[in-house]
Amino acid sequence: MDTPPGQSIAIDLPDPGATREFASGMVDVLEPGTVVYLKGTLGTGKTTFVRMFMEAAGYRGRIRSPTYTLVEVYPGVAHFDLYRLSDPEELEWLGGRDYFGGDTLCFIEWPDKGTGYLPPADLIFDLEVRGTGRRLVMTACTERGHRILQKMKRGSSISRPPF
Ligand SMILES: Nc1ncnc2c1ncn2[C@@H]1O[C@H](COP(=O)(O)OP(=O)(O)OP(=O)(O)O)[C@@H](O)[C@H]1O
Ligand SMILES: [Mg+2]
Repeated sequence: MDTPPGQSIAIDLPDPGATREFASGMVDVLEPGTVVYLKGTLGTGKTTFVRMFMEAAGYRGRIRSPTYTLVEVYPGVAHFDLYRLSDPEELEWLGGRDYFGGDTLCFIEWPDKGTGYLPPADLIFDLEVRGTGRRLVMTACTERGHRILQKMKRGSSISRPPF
């Protein structure tokens, strides 16, 4: 099955262990410079995904939620949580430009708060609560996002591929 840009695929993450497995699979497929928008209401697991991704990538330092700092930076990765951004222009003060458009992999929670000051998403991850677990819908918005989803499908370590 092919996934042209704009097309979505969905995966069920019935428990945090499934999210961990998914996040570790993403380590091999996300490319430097990829922009991932993380959408979904409060507490749907956006930060959990990034934490698990960093752990799977081998990062051994402290992984904090950017709830108040708005951005946490790791080698090669910037993790934004724009929920408390009062004006998208504040992104300039946060040094957004230092991370956008280069080789930094960017995870951005609450991207709607930064409209006009963010790079376009390669991938949008939409999380929602499903029973006691989560459902993730991934949408490829660019050629790069498309390529990543294809790589993910080919090398998926997910035990029950939804494709
Ligand atoms: N697949 C899953 N199944 C069940 N629970 C999960 C799953 N993934 C994450 N969780 C739990 O959901 C909660 C999500 O919290 P988290 O801080 O990651 O949410 P968030 O989307 O970043 O929220 P916010 O918008 O407030 O930043 C955590 O308690 C986490 O353990
Ligand atoms: Mg969060």
